[in-house]
Amino acid sequence: MNIYTTSFPVLLPSGIEIVPAGVKIDDSLLASLKNMPADRRMISLKSNGTFKKDIRNIFKKNVYSSIFRDKKDRKSILSIVKNLSVSYAQFEVLEYFKDTDVSTYDHLLSVFILSAYISAQLSVSKTPYSSFYGSLSHDIGKCSIPIEILNKTTPLTQLERKQLEHHTIAGYCLLHYFGVGNDNESPIIARDHHENTNGTGYPLGKKNISLNTEIVIACDIYDALLSPRAYRNEAFTNRTALEELTKIAFDGKISQDIVKAFVAGCRNKKTAWYECNVSRDYRGKPPIKNNYGRFHD
Ligand SMILES: [Fe+2]
Ligand SMILES: [Fe+2]
Repeated sequence: MNIYTTSFPVLLPSGIEIVPAGVKIDDSLLASLKNMPADRRMISLKSNGTFKKDIRNIFKKNVYSSIFRDKKDRKSILSIVKNLSVSYAQFEVLEYFKDTDVSTYDHLLSVFILSAYISAQLSVSKTPYSSFYGSLSHDIGKCSIPIEILNKTTPLTQLERKQLEHHTIAGYCLLHYFGVGNDNESPIIARDHHENTNGTGYPLGKKNISLNTEIVIACDIYDALLSPRAYRNEAFTNRTALEELTKIAFDGKISQDIVKAFVAGCRNKKTAWYECNVSRDYRGKPPIKNNYGRFHD
C-alpha cells in the first residue's frame, strides 16, 4: 500500500490505543499489530449474541422488505450467516456498536445483506467470504472516533471531518489487530470504502479499487441515504436514493452496472441487472435540510 501516516490514534472501544498518531502504516506496523495481545479465538456469529435475529429485523427495514421479499434471497443470506466466524476481539466491537451506537450497528448489518445480494445479482462468481466480512466490518474503525462527532447534527469543522475520515485507516489497523488472515479482503475494504474509481475519494485517492470494495461503496451510500442520519432532517426516498447512486456513477465514482443491480432489485417485477437502464432523468427531491458534506470553516 501507499505509505500513510496516521493523524489520529487508533483506539479500541475501551479507549486503549493500539496505534498512536503520527505513525507510518507500513508492513512492519501491520505485523506488530498481529503480534499484540488480543483475544483471537474464533466464535460463530450464528450462535453468539443476537446477530441472526438482528439480520432478520434488517430484512423488515424500509425498502429492504421489498428487495428481500423473496424467501430464497433471505435464505441465501442466512446461509452465509451460518458460516460467519469472527475473533472474540472483533465480536466485542460489534457488541459495542449494538450497545452504544445502534445506527452504526444496523448500518453494518444492512451493508452486509445488501452487498451479498448485489454480488449475487451481478453473478460475482464465488464471492469470497472475505468480502462478506469486509461489508460487515467496513465502518468498524468508527469505534476510534468520538461519538459526538458521529452524532453531530450541525456541519463538521475541517478538523472533525479529518477525524471522521480516520475511521478508514483505523478500521484497516483494527482488522489486522483482530488477526484476520492474509487472504482476507476485509482490511482493504475498510480502508478503501470511501475511495472512488475516479481517484477523488479518501484516504489515499486510489482509482484502482476491487469489485468487492466497489459493491460495498455503493451499498454503503445507498443505506446511508435511506436511513435516518443526525446531519439531515429526513431520509431520502428510495427513488431519490437510486437517483443519487446514478449521479455518482455518471460522475465516474462507481460502476453503472452496480447501480443497474440496485434498480433491478427494487423493481416490482425483478429483472436481470443487464436488462435495466440508468438515466439522467432525475425526478426525486432530496431532503432540504442536509448537512452532509458541509463544513464550518
Ligand atoms: Fe465509512
Ligand atoms: Fe458505512
